[in-house]
Amino acid sequence: MLIIRNLKKVYNQGDPILSDVSLELGKGEMAFLVGPSGAGKSTLIKMIYLEEKPDAGEILLGNYNFTHIKDKQIPRMRRQLGVIFQDFKLISERTAWENVALALEVVGKPKRVISNKVSDLLRLVGLLHRKHNYPDQLSGGECQRVATARALANEPLLLLADEPTGNLDHDNSQSLLKLLAKINVQGCSILMATHNMNLIEGLPQRRLYLEDGLVRENES
Ligand SMILES: Nc1ncnc2c1ncn2[C@@H]1O[C@H](COP(=O)(O)OP(=O)(O)OP(=O)(O)O)[C@@H](O)[C@H]1O
Ligand SMILES: [Mg+2]
Repeated sequence: MLIIRNLKKVYNQGDPILSDVSLELGKGEMAFLVGPSGAGKSTLIKMIYLEEKPDAGEILLGNYNFTHIKDKQIPRMRRQLGVIFQDFKLISERTAWENVALALEVVGKPKRVISNKVSDLLRLVGLLHRKHNYPDQLSGGECQRVATARALANEPLLLLADEPTGNLDHDNSQSLLKLLAKINVQGCSILMATHNMNLIEGLPQRRLYLEDGLVRENES
């Protein structure tokens, strides 16, 4: 489903941030991308949603090979992805309901479909009762749940999460992880970057360690 081969990334002709990264994530799999601050986790995630381009190597996602993708194919390719960020990136002038609905409006879904889908998504993340609230009327944990509902709106193959618990306290971080596990059980693959090893201690999911420009599967 996601295949990354020999990826290299250099910023400003410096030392490579990623020197030779290869990994595979199967359909329906969930993995944590871990490594120290500055290791290149966000850089790798950005390349998977095509915000950054690699200097060498290739990324294949679903039916797309990013090396050969044309600019006009990028929006459709991105629909295979949902992305959540540390800072939620919700639109402050829109309610929880409207933030989620927007993801469906931009791809031209009919009103009735949108209405049902947004309700289902807000129910999934446990926030239907907050649907009329604006982001500044929601807690951090609730904002991240709305962002997660929005990321799932177009039924992505893969949910990318870049440090999604970075602005959350311990309890909200734990409950977001539980929500992600639930979403994963329903069939969505998930790759979550975090530098918080304590948070994921004891969890059963795969870990990919990014350090010194390389990804390895097991901590040595
Ligand atoms: N646009 C950019 N231009 C130049 N250097 C960059 C750019 N983006 C990131 N870097 C550098 O690349 C390195 C990796 O950054 P990145 O944000 O990918 O790390 P990270 O593993 O996500 O760290 P954190 O855990 O703190 O989020 C850092 O040294 C950073 O300064
Ligand atoms: Mg980062």
